[in-house]
Amino acid sequence: MTKRLSNKKLEYRDQRQNAQEAGINTDFALDISEHGTIKAESYFTKTGQPAYHASFVFKITANSKKELETRSKLLKNELIKYGIKIVAPFGGEQLNLMMEKIIGSRQINNDYKIECDSGIISGMMFGGATTNIGDNRGFYIGYTERLRRPVFIQPDLAAKAFEGLGNVEDSISQLVAGQTGKGKSFEMNLMLYLSVLANGSMALVIDPKGDRKGWDELPMIPKEYISKWTLGGESKKDAGCLDPFRTSVDLEEGKAIALDILSYLTNSSINDVEYSILSDAIEYVGEMDDPCIGAAIDYLVEQYEQRGHQMSDKRYEALERVKDALLTLQRQNLSVLLFGEVGQDYRSLKADKPIQILMVQNLNLPDKETKKPRTQQQISEAILISITAYTKQYMFNQDRSIHKIILQDEASTIDRSPPVGRELMDFIIRKGRYYNTTLIKGSQNATDHGGDDVANVGMKFSFGLRTRKEAEEMLEFLNLPITRKNVEKLRSLQKGTCLFQDIYGRTATIKIDPVFSDLLTAFDSSTSSEEEKERERQRNIGEIEYPEEQEEQTEYVS
Ligand SMILES: Nc1ncnc2c1ncn2[C@@H]1O[C@H](COP(=O)(O)OP(=O)(O)OP(=O)(O)O)[C@@H](O)[C@H]1O
Ligand SMILES: [Mg+2]
Repeated sequence: MTKRLSNKKLEYRDQRQNAQEAGINTDFALDISEHGTIKAESYFTKTGQPAYHASFVFKITANSKKELETRSKLLKNELIKYGIKIVAPFGGEQLNLMMEKIIGSRQINNDYKIECDSGIISGMMFGGATTNIGDNRGFYIGYTERLRRPVFIQPDLAAKAFEGLGNVEDSISQLVAGQTGKGKSFEMNLMLYLSVLANGSMALVIDPKGDRKGWDELPMIPKEYISKWTLGGESKKDAGCLDPFRTSVDLEEGKAIALDILSYLTNSSINDVEYSILSDAIEYVGEMDDPCIGAAIDYLVEQYEQRGHQMSDKRYEALERVKDALLTLQRQNLSVLLFGEVGQDYRSLKADKPIQILMVQNLNLPDKETKKPRTQQQISEAILISITAYTKQYMFNQDRSIHKIILQDEASTIDRSPPVGRELMDFIIRKGRYYNTTLIKGSQNATDHGGDDVANVGMKFSFGLRTRKEAEEMLEFLNLPITRKNVEKLRSLQKGTCLFQDIYGRTATIKIDPVFSDLLTAFDSSTSSEEEKERERQRNIGEIEYPEEQEEQTEYVS
């Protein structure tokens, strides 16, 4: 082999010489080939690996010409991702090549020979060496439905900018969508858990529904590595800890978020007098030592009681409305978290454990159907926004060299409420790569996320969707053809099975597999009794045995 490569090198040298004598330049292709030869020679000399002459012939069958074309295109596209280029020769050669594929036939065509080492042969011909979805490194999260190949994920890979990685997405954030009960939280939990355990990541879990109450410890992660904040309980220290001035990264952002939240809560928009009154109040407290919403309300009350003579009647009436609205809101139980008071000894949210969970008691979030949220729901939304501001602080304050995960389980609520919530999340997605932070956004469907920024998300997981429309929107979002089959596939995904698109833009149906039954128990969010759970467990264990006829039929053509 090395001898042939040396000969090849001599050939290139001759070609160059001839060109020089003829006074013409050699083309770039020659440089590339020569370079490749030198590399191959050094590889074989150094490793002493045997080399093989091989030719790979793929036989593709289909019922129609169109189907055949689609399939051959798919094969080409898939292989190119590995740097392997294949050709479909025309005419007569096809027949010979087909004859070759008959078992026991001799090799007829010798035109497509390549020289390669044993690694290439084992990888190509015996499969299993690599899976064509996921990162092929990192930890195991499940297997493909069709060929049951293992799927491995390294959550921060896209941020590492490795040369030749071939990723189409740079973002390390993830989107997890699907109808209720299909396994979103389960997948996010597993991803987070394995990232912490196997990748050394730090994690912050925003858990508005309190699904993770039972996470005192997790399999192989003892208590001392997990911290839970359950806000809104008895503790006096909780009061004011979610005031946006206190959760924000800096004063300017605190002011902006406080203003957005207060104008949302009082239904005032930018052109209203109410808005300018609120803005004045926020500016005023911004100058104070301990700025907080409570101080802004005090300021408004004071303004009202000591009406300046230059204040118009219109403004005075507006002031009365805003002040009254805020005083009413302040009496709501939940407000105590959001409306800080000057000089309060509040709990400061400092995350120093690998897993930090943030839960809020009695949060009442509106759902998608809610047209006009009630007061308590509005406050709940405002609390979630303030928490999102905190997640940004988390991203900034932790060590940049450590990968971080922020899990936002109810992201759609934030996306739907005042724009500031979504802006904060978009910011984390955009800057996440730089700050080594993955935002995992959980939501019921793809459109909740709207906007262009979602396009920046790295990995996408879609669990079963309810309606045709949702499925179509998801396919569009994933850049997949909107065919009847694909729509049906998305709608019929079983619990724990999802359509996964990796950072290379490849898609496959995968089954999320926790492997260990104690993980299954730890991530179980259902409220069913122990007995029911056992039955469900048995059923789930059974489900992993995928019957042949359920094999994936979908044409996920990218
Ligand atoms: N991959 C899986 N393997 C085994 N069981 C699973 C899997 N995924 C989900 N389950 C089971 O399904 C239940 C519901 O899943 P999960 O809580 O993740 O739903 P969800 O999509 O987050 O729903 P919601 O939108 O209501 O929060 C889990 O408690 C668990 O018991
Ligand atoms: Mg959930």
